[in-house]
Amino acid sequence: MTEIRRVGVVGLGAMGAGIAQLCVEAGVETVGREVTAELGEAARGRIGHFLTRKVEKGTLQQEARDAAVGRLTTTTELADLAGCDLVIEAIVEELEPKRVLFAELERLCRPDTVLATNTSALSVTEIAAATSSPERVVGMHFFNPAPLMPLVEIVRAQLTADEPFEAAFAFGTRLGKTAVRCHDTPGFVVNRVLIPLLNDCLRVLDEARVSAEDLDTAMRAGAGWPMGPCELVDLVGIDVHVHAAEALYEKLREPRMAPPPRLVAMRNAGLLGRKSGRGFYPYPR
Ligand code: CAA
Repeated sequence: MTEIRRVGVVGLGAMGAGIAQLCVEAGVETVGREVTAELGEAARGRIGHFLTRKVEKGTLQQEARDAAVGRLTTTTELADLAGCDLVIEAIVEELEPKRVLFAELERLCRPDTVLATNTSALSVTEIAAATSSPERVVGMHFFNPAPLMPLVEIVRAQLTADEPFEAAFAFGTRLGKTAVRCHDTPGFVVNRVLIPLLNDCLRVLDEARVSAEDLDTAMRAGAGWPMGPCELVDLVGIDVHVHAAEALYEKLREPRMAPPPRLVAMRNAGLLGRKSGRGFYPYPR
C-alpha cells in the first residue's frame, strides 16, 4: 500500500486549511497550494492561530505547535505537489474546475499517488473520469470545521481500486478521524440525510413563523443538536449549502433536496453566513 509521507492539499479555504492543519498535527509534511501567495499566507495564519489556541488551552505543547506549523509549506505552483503520496483537493465546488485539476494532477504526480477529492455533493466518478487512471481517485469527505468534526467519509467511485481506497481509509484514521467507507452516491451518507433535513428546518421558519433564534433554540434543546440549523448553515456557508442542495436535487429529483427559496435569495444577496459577516446572524456574534 502507498505509504503516505507527504501530502498535498489544493485549495486552502475553510476546508482545505482545516485538512492541512490535521495533516501537520499528525506529523505529515504538507504542501498547500493556493492561487496567490497572500491566500496561502492567510491560511497559514489561520492554522497557526488555531494551534496557538490549543497551546493556550493546554491541549498542545508549544514545541509541538511550532513543529506542526514548520511541516506546512505553501505554494502557488501545482508542480510543487509532484512528490506527494496523497493529494487532497478542496477547491471550489464545481465539476469542471475539479476535472481540469485532476487531469493536471495526473500529469504532475507519480502513478501511485492517491488523488482524493473533498467534494461534498459532486460525483467522485465524474471527477475521476477526467483522468486516465480513475482507479487511484477516491473521495475523502471531511466535515466543517474539519479539525473538530470527527468523521471522514471514504468514498469509492465506480472505478476506484482497493489499494488507494484502503490507503485513504488508513490515512483518515491516522489523522485521528472516525472513517467510514461508502460508495459514490449523491450526498454519500451524511449529506444525503443532512441536506434535506436542514432544508426542512429552514422551511419551518416560514411555515411555523418561528424566528431563526427560536428555531435554533428548539433544535438544540428539543433534539440535542450541538448547533441550531441556522447557525449551522451560517457555518457551512449559505452558498455552499445551496450549491450542495441543487446538486442533490439535480441527481435525485426529490423535492426536499431543492434549496428553500429563502436560502437562494440570501445567497443571491451575498448573505453567505460567517464568512461574509452576515447570514441568519451578524458576525462576529
Ligand atoms: N479550525 C480549527 N479549530 C477551530 C475551528 C476551525 N475551523 N473553529 C474553531 N476551532 C477551535 C477554536 O480554537 C475553538 O476554541 P476558541 O473559541 O476558544 O478559540 C475550539 O475549536 C472549540 O470551539 P468551541 O468550544 O466553540 O467548540 P464546541 O464544543 O462549541 O464545538 C463544534 C464546536 C464542533 C463546531 C460543534 O458546535 C458542532 O459539532 N457543531 C455541528 C457542526 C456540524 O454539524 N458540522 C457539519 C456541517 S455539514 C458539512 O460539513 C458537510 C458538507 O459537506 C457541507
